[in-house]
Amino acid sequence: MERTFIAIKPDGVQRGLIAEIISRFERKGFKLVGIKLVVPSKDFAQKHYHDLKERPFFDGLCDFLSSGPVLAMVWEGEGVIKYGRKLIGATDPQKSEPGTIRGDLAVVVGRNIIHGSDGLETAKDEISLWFQPEELVNFTSNSEKWVYGVN
Ligand code: GTP
Ligand code: MG
Repeated sequence: MERTFIAIKPDGVQRGLIAEIISRFERKGFKLVGIKLVVPSKDFAQKHYHDLKERPFFDGLCDFLSSGPVLAMVWEGEGVIKYGRKLIGATDPQKSEPGTIRGDLAVVVGRNIIHGSDGLETAKDEISLWFQPEELVNFTSNSEKWVYGVN
């Protein structure tokens, strides 16, 4: 089953939005298979955002990501990469629809509270950057037969 990397950034953690954000993914029917609170080093943040290294905001972005605890998670489910991004909303909270996480809970692009992988390859790379394989669990959740309608 598809997996994606989702992180609540230091602003989301500091603002007490962990439960609110987890709840949105849980209620949708996605399954949490890995979770930990980490303070990434700047070097680690640069690795995570390596594809943005030419952008003018890169240094500030990496300083910010490494400025405090980040809640790193792996979520599993059918279409979770693309739909996870829908739940999150547009990069700039001014353009995120109401009802999305950034639309409801954030105001500016530099403090948009959450990260989500943007594709299959990125998801694989980010999961292996943030998690050791043994930190992820394989289990059948009780609700799966009700979410997917399989026996
Ligand atoms: P992530 O899920 O965090 O990767 O966001 P995204 O995929 O919606 O956007 P992208 O990967 O293009 O940018 C990564 C992060 O850089 C964003 O979440 C923002 O926090 C930040 N960012 C993107 N564009 C800007 C910008 O124009 N100015 C500033 N200050 N930050 C930006
Ligand atoms: Mg991105």
